[in-house]
Amino acid sequence: MGEPSPVEVRTRLLAWYATNRRDLPWRRTRDPYRILVAEYLLQRTRIASGRPYYERFIARFPTVRDLAAASLDDVLAVWEGLGFYGRARNLHAAARAIAERHGAQVPRSYQELLDLPGIGPYTAGAVASIAFGIPVPAVDGNVTRVIARLFRIRADVTEGVTGRRILEIAARLVSPEDPGAFNQAMMELGATICTPTSPACDRCPLETLCLARAAGEERTIPLASRPGPPRAVPVAFALVESKGRVLLVRRERGELLAGLWALPGGEIPSRRSARKSLPEIVKAQTGVVIVVGPPWSSVERTFSHRRWSGTIFRSSPAGRPRDRGRVRWIPIRDALKLPLIPFHRVALKSLQGLEAFGPR
Ligand code: ADE
Repeated sequence: MGEPSPVEVRTRLLAWYATNRRDLPWRRTRDPYRILVAEYLLQRTRIASGRPYYERFIARFPTVRDLAAASLDDVLAVWEGLGFYGRARNLHAAARAIAERHGAQVPRSYQELLDLPGIGPYTAGAVASIAFGIPVPAVDGNVTRVIARLFRIRADVTEGVTGRRILEIAARLVSPEDPGAFNQAMMELGATICTPTSPACDRCPLETLCLARAAGEERTIPLASRPGPPRAVPVAFALVESKGRVLLVRRERGELLAGLWALPGGEIPSRRSARKSLPEIVKAQTGVVIVVGPPWSSVERTFSHRRWSGTIFRSSPAGRPRDRGRVRWIPIRDALKLPLIPFHRVALKSLQGLEAFGPR
């Protein structure tokens, strides 16, 4: 059995997609801005989780100019809960770049798209092909798996050389007539049929062309060196509160959850030393000296590379905190209007519930 021919792959895949494509909001539009928003949002997010965020995002920021004119807080407020907040900061920066450099029109070339903040080859390829019909590939994890199986590529797909080989194949396969449909069909096949652990080969339009299937290797390909489990990192945060106000700090660039507002605190050397480390961190972040009180809630949060494990402590300020730059001392009600780390929002809400019964 020889290598699958591009013409045959395209013909079968596009016919399958025409009858099996899911009806998704970003597929009902030709507006490049909406397609751009969807592609930023779907980086590392499943369609079911991303879809309601997409709809809220577009309702709130219907055009590039609306997004460019918004504050980062407004953008993060709509993104809160979706994770990977760098995407929101980058999308906001991209809207500003498009407004300034491109007269508020999403640029129509692969290279200019690639030059926008937060856009890599995948997103540039997706937007160029879907919004503008430019025949370039868009290779994400789903597409990588489809190609590795179709061509029976038994090398580690996380390695650079293998990635480049897959990209070259994708570039040969992409339909010159309808690259947007082709790329989305590949993603769709990977998401719904050619799934990681239980591919539904009997329903696959490419089954008879697939070299992994012919060799009975559809479940063992692709090979990938698996990242280890996320590392556990101890954390402590301070719910610093007095007379209905709380102390918040905006997390800095380069930190996990950067850009969001948070209770002061963070990663510490050990859980045992939390009560000693916490006042030092809070002082360094906010200039405020605190007295650490009882535990308020525990923290167990897993991110892609680390797992936060620790405690939020109730604390009180020694002296009167003041707003400055990234630090705010604000009524809980107003705090809840800011884009917050989601589990800090939960802690603040439970505190607010308690406050509703009057001062202790
Ligand atoms: N994942 C990212 N972009 C997508 C798209 N346009 N269709 C389906 N899945 C996607």
